[in-house]
Amino acid sequence: MLRIAIQSKGRLYEETMDLLGELGIKLSSAKRTLLIPARNFPVEVLFLRDDDIPESVASGIADVGIVGLNEYMEKDKDAEIVKKLEFSKCRLSLAIPKDAEYDGLKWFEGKKIATSYPKILNDFLDKNGIKSDIHVITGSVEIAPGIGLSDAIFDIVSSGSTLVSNQLKEVEVVVESQAVMIANKSLTDEKREILEELLFRVDAVLAADGKKYILMNVPNASLDTVLEILPGIKSPTVMPLAQEGWSSVHAVLPEKRFWEIINRLRSAGAEGILVLNIEKMVL
Ligand code: PRP
Ligand code: ZN
Repeated sequence: MLRIAIQSKGRLYEETMDLLGELGIKLSSAKRTLLIPARNFPVEVLFLRDDDIPESVASGIADVGIVGLNEYMEKDKDAEIVKKLEFSKCRLSLAIPKDAEYDGLKWFEGKKIATSYPKILNDFLDKNGIKSDIHVITGSVEIAPGIGLSDAIFDIVSSGSTLVSNQLKEVEVVVESQAVMIANKSLTDEKREILEELLFRVDAVLAADGKKYILMNVPNASLDTVLEILPGIKSPTVMPLAQEGWSSVHAVLPEKRFWEIINRLRSAGAEGILVLNIEKMVL
């Protein structure tokens, strides 16, 4: 049995639950009690505050954890990152009042900075030879400059709207964060094996992320043009249709380039274009 610690609420909760679902892990109770075993996989899920996840994994209370890289770096516990999960992306940034003139890092010399991430900030300032006064607060960091508690803040920025509504501007990105899977460093062989299976499934989910499966009918005369437009995994599949002179073409395409590619396919003569979601992709 592998015990996975995840956040019981907040930033990562929903997306972590979605990921567990995509990995095929069904929890045996919908109620969020502290510890829930899975019905169909040898794991149990431990719900914790994000702040407690790195320590619980380092100490072996949990074997694996899903947590923000920001939280992992700040807590600096002895657990290893086994996978970057590509969701809950955000930045840990320095921000100052929007009307202040910014002339580079030396702006922060002697200034008061409010944050919930003193360790990461301290390391960053040290590395850059800047001495500031770090003021630790645990919530609503963004209001500190407005009420005269600090000159600047160091906090999570995602959409940036919190900064805007507090008349602040982001001037330095210190850490690019995302959700990561961390693991205890001395797992038993049995637990390692379960973790390997989990990571295999995570890779399949990540590989399918942002990709679509596309099918279309193409007159044979246009096949060459259409195949040039399609960036297949290896090469697109081409099959003859019952109707003479036509083929069915299948391919995987990146969602980002979706509209651009669809329009080019249409002008190249493709018809009956069908686009499907890809749930998993095992490479
Ligand atoms: C973070 C951060 C900001 C906000 C930034 O708080 O402290 O308040 O997100 O996001 P935005 O750039 O999209 O506006 P979070 O929601 O994680 O909760 P917390 O304040 O409890 O940490
Ligand atoms: Zn927290």
